[in-house]
Amino acid sequence: MSQAVEAKVNPNAPTEEEVLSVKHYTDRLFKFRITRPSAFRFRSGEFVMIGLPGPKGKPIMRAYSVASPSWDDTLEFFSIKVPDGPLTSMLGDIKPGDKVLLGKKPTGTLVHDALLPGKRLYMFSTGTGIAPFASVMRDPETYERFEQVILTHTCREVAELEYGKELTEGLKDDPLVGEIAPQKFVHYGSCTREDYPFKGRITDLITSGKLFEDLGVPPLNPEEDRVMICGSMDMLKDTKELCEKAGLVEGSNATPATYVVERAFVG
Ligand code: A2P
Repeated sequence: MSQAVEAKVNPNAPTEEEVLSVKHYTDRLFKFRITRPSAFRFRSGEFVMIGLPGPKGKPIMRAYSVASPSWDDTLEFFSIKVPDGPLTSMLGDIKPGDKVLLGKKPTGTLVHDALLPGKRLYMFSTGTGIAPFASVMRDPETYERFEQVILTHTCREVAELEYGKELTEGLKDDPLVGEIAPQKFVHYGSCTREDYPFKGRITDLITSGKLFEDLGVPPLNPEEDRVMICGSMDMLKDTKELCEKAGLVEGSNATPATYVVERAFVG
């Protein structure tokens, strides 16, 4: 490369990564795995920009939570497909061997650094909001820091719960957390628009106390519980309110506290 061309290269420009695998769960939901550059560092629970070249050559980039843990050699993402979504309508058609653009600056608040130590970690998710927790639930630090780790995932339809069930089933075979996680981890799936053993919005299950009865634990309290929340804007707002009412305080990377929130980005 000549010096003149080199000088124009943007050091923050996304890298081009190869798609390694794709799995579709419903006609709206899929996961995919891509190569990970050796220089790409992130903390489990963070998000990064992902994209494809647009029709006019300009990349279309959107924020995506990394669903794989920080120690993994490759990167996993869980996505929704929106028929008229500028990125997801194209991303939904990717195949192994295709190229995807990966941003260089992962960031986010659904990380252990933003929470004070506690006894129990709740990860409340709806829809694709499960993605950052797919990362956190496979991170050894999660089990070093907490005695009990509870992932709730609420979806409209039963088929949308499949990714979370598959992750839970896979924990026992996980190379790093396979021994410890099954003793501490609980997956609580609920469905709002189809019949299912656990029914209803997470906010209703918290308010009625049914969640805690089902789990056999005391109601949310700031002495023992730490909470991460990821879902739609409305879900965040309503779940935050319940955390505040229980006496929890919102944390950040700069000021760790007892709960943290992040919006599930691509919709
Ligand atoms: P519901 O079926 O009653 O709307 P979405 O796909 O719209 O993001 O929804 C994913 C899940 O989150 C659905 O089960 C939905 O329930 C639930 N949900 C939507 N809004 C809220 C909210 N404000 N609080 C809690 N759960 C919500």
